[in-house]
Amino acid sequence: MPEESSPMTTVSTEQRKFDPVSTFVKDAQISGRAAYDALYEKSIADPEAFWAEVAEDFFWYRKWDTVLDRSEAPFFKWFSGAKTNLSVNCVDRHLDGPNKNKAAIIWEGEPGDSRVLTYFDLYREVNKFANALSEQGVKKGDRVAIYLGMVPELAIACLACARIGAVHTVIFAGFSAESIKDRVEGCEARTVITGDASYRRGKPLGLKTIVDEAVEGLDCVQQVIVVKRDGVEIACPMVEGRDVWYHDIVRHTAIHCEPEQMDAEDMLFLLYTSGTTGKPKGIIHTTAGYMVYSYLTSKYVFDMRPEDVYWCTADVGWITGHSYIVYGPMQNAITQVMYEGAPNWPDEGRFWNIIEKYAVTTFYTAPTAIRAFMKWGDHWVEKYDLSSLRLLGTVGEAINPEAWMWYHEKIGASQCPIVDTWWQTETGGHMLTPIPGAIATKPGSATVPFFGIEPLVLTEEGEEVNAGILAIKNPWPGMLRGVYGDPQRFKDTYFSKWDGKYYLPGDGVRKDEDGYYWILGRIDDVVNVSGHRIGTAELESVFVEHEAVAESAVIGVPHEIKGQGLVAFVTVRQGIETSDALKKELVGMVDKGIGKFARPEQILFTHDLPKTRSGKIMRRILRNITLGEDIGNVTTLADPSVVNELVEQWNSLTAKA
Ligand code: WT7
Repeated sequence: MPEESSPMTTVSTEQRKFDPVSTFVKDAQISGRAAYDALYEKSIADPEAFWAEVAEDFFWYRKWDTVLDRSEAPFFKWFSGAKTNLSVNCVDRHLDGPNKNKAAIIWEGEPGDSRVLTYFDLYREVNKFANALSEQGVKKGDRVAIYLGMVPELAIACLACARIGAVHTVIFAGFSAESIKDRVEGCEARTVITGDASYRRGKPLGLKTIVDEAVEGLDCVQQVIVVKRDGVEIACPMVEGRDVWYHDIVRHTAIHCEPEQMDAEDMLFLLYTSGTTGKPKGIIHTTAGYMVYSYLTSKYVFDMRPEDVYWCTADVGWITGHSYIVYGPMQNAITQVMYEGAPNWPDEGRFWNIIEKYAVTTFYTAPTAIRAFMKWGDHWVEKYDLSSLRLLGTVGEAINPEAWMWYHEKIGASQCPIVDTWWQTETGGHMLTPIPGAIATKPGSATVPFFGIEPLVLTEEGEEVNAGILAIKNPWPGMLRGVYGDPQRFKDTYFSKWDGKYYLPGDGVRKDEDGYYWILGRIDDVVNVSGHRIGTAELESVFVEHEAVAESAVIGVPHEIKGQGLVAFVTVRQGIETSDALKKELVGMVDKGIGKFARPEQILFTHDLPKTRSGKIMRRILRNITLGEDIGNVTTLADPSVVNELVEQWNSLTAKA
């Protein structure tokens, strides 16, 4: 590890192992370890043959000439020459046969209102909106930003964009106006789709007003389309000539929209994510490879069956919602629940109430949520009948064994396999994960690779070790194709270590004696707060925008519920008095610059920061201080006395808390 990288969490000594229960294995798509091994070996021995066989399941206008084109590595191409459309594979394909009137989305609003859309309903909605978008002048290749709450129109908007070949970029509704602006400007979106409001903890949260602020003065934005949230009365001023209501523009459009025949490598969507430095990157996903990968991972990892009721609690604003609400489940013609609001509204039993109400079979959530449920108490769970559940999943961060055991026993009644899925915005789909009817699970381990994925555990120099840096050996269909507008950043970030031979995810990992992988956390300056990736550099640049601030360093610290929280060390300019008021202003800047979810746990005003003689801030030392660990060698610091001062300050702060 380089000196500046994050310390990885302590290596788990967890020894428990759980075989999948026999009742689950009996009907599983991939049943038993031997079945997994055989298919895995096949997928690695001849990946092109493996993926070509999977791809036979889809609707294509034209099939591929080559499965994998490595000629411009690391800009890999999958299914070159093929033509398809993802909205057709998610919706139209299910209209001939038993799924036509099957529920696609069972939506539950936070106040308790609900809607059910069948696949045929979804077809009509997607087509009507696709036609409306075309009428508004949106064309193939145009970027469309989507800033909506968790309402069916969010999925419909994605699919409508896919239908006409527009590139959607969904922005999580917790982001601030400035963050929206960065993203809209970054990809020069011509259209923004938003809502008047969405419910959050009993109150309608205004969205349109935030978008108005974000797009003010942005020449690229030609129109804003506004979805009306039923039952909400909220001020929503419309700008003449720019803003239109969704319900007005879909009212007269036809229920069929001829899909755009998309090239395999035509862009499907952009999704912005934080990195180590600079502004968030627009991760590029393209059509055919992403389609095939999100489909197959959904099918096998969630062991999807026609009678399932699947519920992923993520927001479509993150990659989980793209791959495992919109694209993967729908290609599998699954019935899914979509919920608008908070897990603790009107009370802490809401999720269990929803599971009972709709007889959910498959439940996919985040470790941070599980830890919150644990804290709220078992009585919330015990009030409800959860016997419909047959499979549980987690995503977003490593799950601590205590939370895993609670999930297993209290939610799964010790009968449901848990799939701990490790993957990233960049990977498009699951990479390390149990296959539920085949792989015994261990609490806290993402277990084994998905088909076609070859992980390696390496040192900086590229030697194989048991604990080190995770690398992925070969390309896979769902992988990112680039960073929007910045091919060099793509190469530098993901393919510069080890001479460009392997993909670098940025996580540390340990491989145990059974060949199971244990993710140990990020090796860079990215912090995972409640499963949300936040680059410390982003927060630092928000702080230094304040005139009183000279410098700041932000680090991640362990947090009981969030997994990690943020702590900011801030030095002010000479002559400035520090105060609680200034602290409040800085918190306000985070709300404004990124969003409330990125608020730090602590802001510490410090006299100086530990730096090397060349002026580099030593975040490692800051982390050691917050963890109460041995600071190690400080003789290389420009001013070693800073450290003692910081230790005292931190200790007196935490003693007070
Ligand atoms: C980072 C990716 C994957 C969709 C949601 C987050 C961490 C994610 C796990 C897991 C341990 C995990 C990694 C990864 N992570 N899932 N099951 N076990 N760590 O997507 O925002 O792109 O973040 O989340 O550190 O690199 P993302």
